[in-house]
Amino acid sequence: MQSYVLVISLLFLLMVAAVFWWVVRHSTADASGAGAGGSVESYRGGLFWGLVALGLVVAALTLRPWPYDVAASDGATTVTATGNQWSWEIVPQELPAGRPVIFKVTSNDVNHGFGVYDADGTMLFQTQAMPGYVNQVRYTFTKPGKYRVLCLEYCGLVHHDMIEEINVK
Ligand code: CUA
Repeated sequence: MQSYVLVISLLFLLMVAAVFWWVVRHSTADASGAGAGGSVESYRGGLFWGLVALGLVVAALTLRPWPYDVAASDGATTVTATGNQWSWEIVPQELPAGRPVIFKVTSNDVNHGFGVYDADGTMLFQTQAMPGYVNQVRYTFTKPGKYRVLCLEYCGLVHHDMIEEINVK
């Protein structure tokens, strides 16, 4: 999945680079003042709004499974996760599979990153753990098993050891 995303990203970067190259190539021709400016201008305008529309469509499609929308709490289990230098306090640590879980994430000291990984080491979701704020993430574990919580924000000397386990049954 990640290599697939990388290839797509590289293709898009290549397209952006091609557009830049095209603009650089043609901007000198326009500066010489020899006509045809109007059609190039309208072409650029069309290209611009076309890209804006494409961006909106891509954003709408890819953000649909947005995990931060926790408004509908249809019988979801609520979990509090608190970051401390250097451990996680997660209550409860045993969670149900196949039912939505709402994580309420905060910190007692500095900023931490709350990242949840499956047994294969694939990140499932993450949010910031910030002192004075409660960030919420909604997630449904599809498979039972052991999941790991890692800290994703450098938070001091023992940041690397801020690891906790979640048991999904
Ligand atoms: Cu907590 Cu890094």
